Amino acid sequence: MPFQSKTMLAPMAGVTDKPFRQTVRLFCNNLLFTEMISADALCYGSKQTRQMMDLSAETGPIGIQLVGNDPKVMARAAQMAEQAGAVQIDINMGCPVKKLISNISGSALMKEPYRAYQIVEAVKKVVSVPVTVKTRLGWDVNHITVVDFVRHLEEAGVDGVTVHARTKEQGYSGRADWSWIQKVKQAVPVPVIANGDITDAQTAEACLAQTGADGVMIGRAAMGKPWILAHVDRQMPRFDLTEVVLAHFDRLMTYYGHKGIFIARKHLAWYAGGKTFVAHFRRAVYAETDEERVRSLIKTYFKEENG
Ligand SMILES: Cc1cc2nc3c(=O)[nH]c(=O)nc-3n(C[C@H](O)[C@H](O)[C@H](O)COP(=O)(O)O)c2cc1C
Repeated sequence: MPFQSKTMLAPMAGVTDKPFRQTVRLFCNNLLFTEMISADALCYGSKQTRQMMDLSAETGPIGIQLVGNDPKVMARAAQMAEQAGAVQIDINMGCPVKKLISNISGSALMKEPYRAYQIVEAVKKVVSVPVTVKTRLGWDVNHITVVDFVRHLEEAGVDGVTVHARTKEQGYSGRADWSWIQKVKQAVPVPVIANGDITDAQTAEACLAQTGADGVMIGRAAMGKPWILAHVDRQMPRFDLTEVVLAHFDRLMTYYGHKGIFIARKHLAWYAGGKTFVAHFRRAVYAETDEERVRSLIKTYFKEENG
C-alpha cells in the first residue's frame, strides 16, 4: 500500500533533508518524503545527490521523490531508491521550476502524458515498493488536465497520486482549488492525496470532508513547525522548543559541517516566525558565522520566548 499514513510530509527541496526529517521524527511516525532527487545526477554518479537518498540512522517510513524525464534513467534511479530503503517511490510531475521544465521534467510532464506514462511503466517494472506521482491541476486555468492525466497514469500502473491543487502557472500563489481533488478521487480507484494550503487539523479535516481524499500532504506549514503532522493528527506531545531547535541545529552541523550554519539560517527564521523581536533575532543569526554563538543566540531567544 502506498501512503503509509493519512497525514504526511511533502517533499520540499532545500527543506526536507535528513536533519529536518529526523527533527520531524521526534514527534511522529508518519510518512515523510525526501527532497526531489535528480535521477540524471544519480545515474551520473553525483556523490552529493547520492547522499540525498541516504536514509541511514532514520526510522519510520520514508518515501524518496525522483525527478527526471527519461524512463530508463528513472527506472535505474528508482532501483537505487528502493535499495536505499524507500518505502515508496514518488515521481515529481508538478514542479514549476524553469530549469526542470526546459528539461521536460517536473510539471512539463503534464504536457507530455505519453512520456509520463512511459516513466511510470518503466519504474513499476523494476521496483517492488509502491510507485506514486505528485502532480498539479494542469498547466494553467485554461488547461486543467489533471483528471485525464491521472486516469492515464493509472492505466500505466501508478499506485497512487498526490494532487497539489494549483496549476503550474499559479506557482504557489492564489488559493488551492480542492474541488478538483474530489473530481480526481471520483475518477480513479487508486489512493488520492490532497495537497495545498493544509495548515492545521481544521483545514485537513475540511479538505478530507470536501474531497473524499485518502489523506493529506503538508508542505509549507511544516517549516519551523516540525511537529505539524502530530498537531494535525491531534497527537501533540509536550516539548521544549529550545531543545527541538537546538537538536535540529546540531543535526544540521553534523550533516553539513560548517556549511550547516548557513543552511540553518532559514530554519531558525521559520522557528522564530510570529514571535516577538523576530527581525532582531533574524538579523543576529544571519550575521553570525560561529557555531557556538549561534547556539547561544538560540538558547537566549527561545528560552525567553518560552518563558
Ligand atoms: C521550498 C519548497 C520546495 C519544494 N520542493 C518540492 C519538491 O522537491 N518536490 C515536490 O514535488 N514539490 C515541492 N514543493 C511543493 C510542495 O511539496 C507542495 O506541493 C506545495 O508547497 C503545496 O503544499 P502546501 O500548501 O502544504 O505548502 C516545494 C515547495 C516549497 C515551498
